[in-house]
Amino acid sequence: MRKIRKAVFPVGGLGTRFLPATKTVPKEMLTVVDKPVIQYVVDEARAAGIEHLIFVTGRNKAVIEDYFDAQVELYTTLAERGKTEALAHMQDLQPSPGTTSFTRQQEPLGLGHAVWCARELVGDEPFALLLPDMVMQARKGCLAEMVELYSETGGNIIAVQECDPEETHQYGIVGKGRDIAHGFEITAMVEKPPRGMAPSNLFINGRYILQPEIFHILASQERGSGNEIQLTDAMVKLAGKEPFYGFRFAGRTYDCGSKTGFIEANVAFALERGDMRDKVMEPLAALLAQHDK
Ligand code: G1P
Repeated sequence: MRKIRKAVFPVGGLGTRFLPATKTVPKEMLTVVDKPVIQYVVDEARAAGIEHLIFVTGRNKAVIEDYFDAQVELYTTLAERGKTEALAHMQDLQPSPGTTSFTRQQEPLGLGHAVWCARELVGDEPFALLLPDMVMQARKGCLAEMVELYSETGGNIIAVQECDPEETHQYGIVGKGRDIAHGFEITAMVEKPPRGMAPSNLFINGRYILQPEIFHILASQERGSGNEIQLTDAMVKLAGKEPFYGFRFAGRTYDCGSKTGFIEANVAFALERGDMRDKVMEPLAALLAQHDK
């Protein structure tokens, strides 16, 4: 079985749900506690053994490339000032030379199109896809668990979680078949089904392991839901030829592309930090008590 070495991060989105903040700052660079959103997602990929990071960017996103570059002046200053811990942390986050690639999605034609833009960089091997709006919190990363499942099943793997049946029209939804290993066979996939038409309440949470054949399908994929080229529609076609398995993620997912999801993520990650927990708990509890009245 071929190892999953490469991960694709579609970071070209305009972030219109988060204006005016995203007028000049890409949504992926907004900070959750003290790290940009994209760093959490990259950390999850690295914890799953990913060796090469492929970013599909767009105009006004150059700062993401700068962020993953070495900041030599900063490193020198930190060293001169004896801030060894901060320096070691920066160097630990720094991807090794030659392990990042950037390409631009020139037009916002949808997620399927963004993924297709990575075809030359991925080449002919299976790859991971992580949607950077979705930030996850779990003892073991979602992608690491998927890679484990993949080592047993091969094929294509999609991570899912349960949502309120009233919210199925906001997501890609899968149909559940027979249980296998630590996952299940996928029997259907629908992008943003109209109310009452969803095959289940299992939504696609933004983590995928896909076979490279998806690129051939995406090359001629027509527009679907929202008049965009949808990845889910291409996956439905690929499912006619190759198996698709669902992995049920048991951790928490925060949609950091939405204002409320972003606030929740900040609180949740701050509460998880030993150096912050107590300092955050007290004022938060006071605020909540005040608003309860
Ligand atoms: C995309 C996918 C959808 C998935 C969602 C998760 O939709 O197309 O299948 O459920 O991400 O966030 P988008 O949020 O880009 O509309």
